[in-house]
Amino acid sequence: MAASHVLVTGGAGFIGSHTVDRLIAEGHRVTVLDDFSQGSRLNLAAHLGAPELVVVEADVASPLRPVLGEAIERHGPVERIVHLAAQTAVQRSIDDPLHDLRVNAGGTLQVLQLAREQGVRGVVMASSAAVYGDTPVLPVHEGLTPAPLSPYGAHKLVSEGYLRIWAELHGVSTTPLRFFNVYGPRQDPKSPYSGVISLFFDKAFAGAPLTIDGDGLQTRDMVFVTDVVDAILRAVFRDDAVGEPINVGTGRQVTVLELARLVTSFAKSNSVIGFGPARAGSIVHSRAAVDRARDRLGFVAAVPVAAGLERTAAWFAAERASRLA
Ligand SMILES: NC(=O)c1ccc[n+]([C@@H]2O[C@H](COP(=O)([O-])OP(=O)(O)OC[C@H]3O[C@@H](n4cnc5c(N)ncnc54)[C@H](O)[C@@H]3O)[C@@H](O)[C@H]2O)c1
Repeated sequence: MAASHVLVTGGAGFIGSHTVDRLIAEGHRVTVLDDFSQGSRLNLAAHLGAPELVVVEADVASPLRPVLGEAIERHGPVERIVHLAAQTAVQRSIDDPLHDLRVNAGGTLQVLQLAREQGVRGVVMASSAAVYGDTPVLPVHEGLTPAPLSPYGAHKLVSEGYLRIWAELHGVSTTPLRFFNVYGPRQDPKSPYSGVISLFFDKAFAGAPLTIDGDGLQTRDMVFVTDVVDAILRAVFRDDAVGEPINVGTGRQVTVLELARLVTSFAKSNSVIGFGPARAGSIVHSRAAVDRARDRLGFVAAVPVAAGLERTAAWFAAERASRLA
């Protein structure tokens, strides 16, 4: 794939910074646009100052061309966009739906307007399994009628609609990727949307009890962050995508209790695993159908959950050691 100028919105965040690592390793020129409301320059430390990376501090929900002057001067016109910047907290979307609409649906529109202006060839947007709501159907497949349970899920669905429309009206190659539960190094346990894994590691390394909501037999499709990045790159370098959503998961499910046990074991922790009340409205079982990802992208998740957790544990341990030093 030819070296390109790739804009990564939300590139200072968890999934974004891993995407930047891989793009730079593959010889692309990268611009990160982030408002640093959640992400951090520390996540990009390996590349700060390198000629391949331009960092722009800006709001994705405002016009983008005016803030990209230096990036376009340095790297040339934007050729591909990985759109990850978002308000990611489901509860905040319920408390302040207009803010979620502005950042998540409005941000996607700004990205697509830029794509049109710049003649961008490929756009990927981070959608979410949240668009499905609580479906009893397993595996969860893209043919199901979406039924989001929060403004967050609804605005991801609206954004998917914009991607399809931009493909049809303006010929931009677009792909919404519906991420399942992503985990790995740099996931911030203090973030309001932090996944169960980073919360468990935070507790396990502190020797504090891990509390599971409910009986722990609820299942999740946990996908390691480097697998997600693989799917993103495969999708963003397509030239003929028509806005069709694609699941990004492993096709396997693991119980939350099993996750808690693996986390305490990899963290070499004596933390007690306890059980609290089941969370109202929480999804019981989740597992992605992965056929479309394999057919359209040639993507198959490669990292088994035990290997992913071992790598995540090593990162948390190093982080903790550097904080205590
Ligand atoms: N982590 C998951 O399990 C998961 C699952 C489904 C979907 N997603 C989606 O994937 C994307 C990346 O998520 P993540 O887990 O890396 O979260 P993250 O919070 O680490 O990354 C989001 C980034 O967007 C930035 N941002 C937020 N609002 C912005 C704004 N108005 N302008 C510019 N930048 C802004 C934040 O500073 C942050 O760096 C999001 O769109 C999220 O909704 C994540």
